[in-house]
Parts: sequence; C-alpha cells; structure tokens
Amino acid sequence: MIENIGIIGFGNMGKAIGTALAALNKGKVCFYDIAPKTETQRNLYQVKNPAELIKNSDVTILAIKPQDIKTFIETHKNAFIAKKPLFITIAAGLNIKFFEKHLTGVKVIRVMPNLAARVGESISFICKGRLASANDIGLAREIFNTVGKTALIDERSINKATAIAGCGPGFVYHIMNSIYQGAVKAGFDRETAKAMINQVFLGAAKLSVISGKDFGVLADEVTSRKGMTEAGRKVFKAKHLDKIIAAAIDAARKRGDEIAKIYS
Ligand SMILES: NC(=O)c1ccc[n+]([C@@H]2O[C@H](COP(=O)([O-])OP(=O)(O)OC[C@H]3O[C@@H](n4cnc5c(N)ncnc54)[C@H](OP(=O)(O)O)[C@@H]3O)[C@@H](O)[C@H]2O)c1
Repeated sequence: MIENIGIIGFGNMGKAIGTALAALNKGKVCFYDIAPKTETQRNLYQVKNPAELIKNSDVTILAIKPQDIKTFIETHKNAFIAKKPLFITIAAGLNIKFFEKHLTGVKVIRVMPNLAARVGESISFICKGRLASANDIGLAREIFNTVGKTALIDERSINKATAIAGCGPGFVYHIMNSIYQGAVKAGFDRETAKAMINQVFLGAAKLSVISGKDFGVLADEVTSRKGMTEAGRKVFKAKHLDKIIAAAIDAARKRGDEIAKIYS
C-alpha cells in the first residue's frame, strides 16, 4: 500500500507524478521545490524544506535535474540515512551505484519515465537497487502505473530502453513534424494539418494496441498492390528509412552511455 510520498522537485515530472497520485488518492503526497509553487490540496502539499519532507516520507522521489543532484545528495544524505525511506530516482544519467554509495543503507530504485507521464501514458522502466525488495519494486510500479505503464529491467539496459522509449516521443514528434511540413506544402492550412496528423498517429497507435498485430502486418494491411501507400513506402525503402532510424536509436544510446560516464 502506498503511504507517505515526498517528491523533491516539482517541475515537469514531479508535478505529473504528484498530481496523478493525488488524483487517484494514492498515499499522502507532499513536495518540495526550490522555487515556490502554488499546487496545494488535501493530498498534495508543499513543505518548507527537504529535511521536513524526508522526515515525513516513506517513499521519496527525487525529480530534480541531474546537474543539481550531487549537491542535493551531499547536503541531505544524513537525513536520508537517518530516515531510510524507499528512495526513487528518476534522473537520467545517474546510476543506482552513485546513490547507494552516498546513501548508506537506503533502498534505491531507479525509474526512467517519459514525457507522456504528463498525460498518464508514460512507459516507465524500473530498475532495482541492491537493497530494494520485491515489495519495494511493487510499490514503485504502483506509483508509476498512475502515470502510464511500467516495465522492470536490469539497469545495464537502461540506455537501450531510454534510446527507444525515453527519446521516443521526441523521435515521433520529429516524424510528425516532417509529415506536417508535407501537409502544409500540399496546401492544407496549419490547423487542419495539425489536427489531421494528430488523429493519424492517435488512430494508428490505438488500432495497433487494440488489434495486437505486428507493426509490419498492420503496415501491409493498409498497403494495396500498386496503390498510394505502396508508392510512398517504396520511397522509405529506397531511402533506407529503417537504417536511418536504427542509426538514430544507436546514437541516442551511445550518448546515454557518455552522459552516464560524465556523472559517475
Ligand atoms: N522531462 C522528461 O521528459 C524526463 C523524462 C525522464 C526523466 N526525467 C528526469 O526527471 C528529472 C526532472 O526533470 P524535469 O523535466 O521534471 O525537470 P524540471 O521541469 O526542471 O523540474 C525540476 C524542478 O526541481 C526544481 N529544483 C531544482 N533544484 C532543486 C533543489 N535543490 N531542490 C528542490 N527542487 C529543485 C526546479 O526549480 P528551478 O526550475 O527553479 O531550477 C524545477 O522546478 C531529471 O532528473 C530528468 O533527468 C525527465
């Protein structure tokens, strides 16, 4: 069962997680942010300092930018060690070992959500720290299921997973933007083009989820021989779109490995 949850950093991610938990009445949520925020309600309130938050939380979620974390942990490590909450980090680039080294005896779980947490549609990867139990993992899943779906992975695979699911929304928007440019060039007004493309992606994703069919099968199903879709897909093949996308995913993963080295 989810009890007292403290969120440190109430930006994009902290706010998405906090408001989802509060909306579903999951636990008692408080947050601390360096800059004052206005979101206060029965199940979600702002505390005055990190020490108060740590003292009152069974679970703390650290949701500040990676570059702010070393100083934060250095300053507050004794409070964490004294309270020993379940510590969940969502920071990109900082591995579990870093937190376990500083927070002696504290159970650490690393989670990598994505941008769609803001609309309850994240895919969040969960990695178990050395001291975390199966129950702790269950608790982390329960928390992050409020902002989408969760999957348990080994931390060694985190950059591979992030290169697809974490960067995924950015990649998809890039492709949506290319189609949008094409639609505007073809003469559609911007508003119509945007609505059309949003609906195409939404519809295609929904059909894929509901049908459960492979993407290749679905692509073939909308491709009639000598038809319009076939003509377009032939260009994708001729220009090696698969290779371009594979190279982009690989570049993202490599960058993830480099960033992890910078922080370790
Ligand atoms: N955004 C994503 O799509 C995404 C996806 C996966 C993981 N993440 C991870 O999630 C974490 C948060 O990202 P975000 O996009 O939510 O960042 P964000 O919007 O910048 O939110 C961070 C918040 O924490 C505040 N803050 C900074 N230093 C603090 C401190 N010492 N104590 C308390 N609050 C502090 C910031 O205030 P100021 O703005 O005044 O500095 C800001 O309000 C990062 O570690 C990131 O790697 C993000």
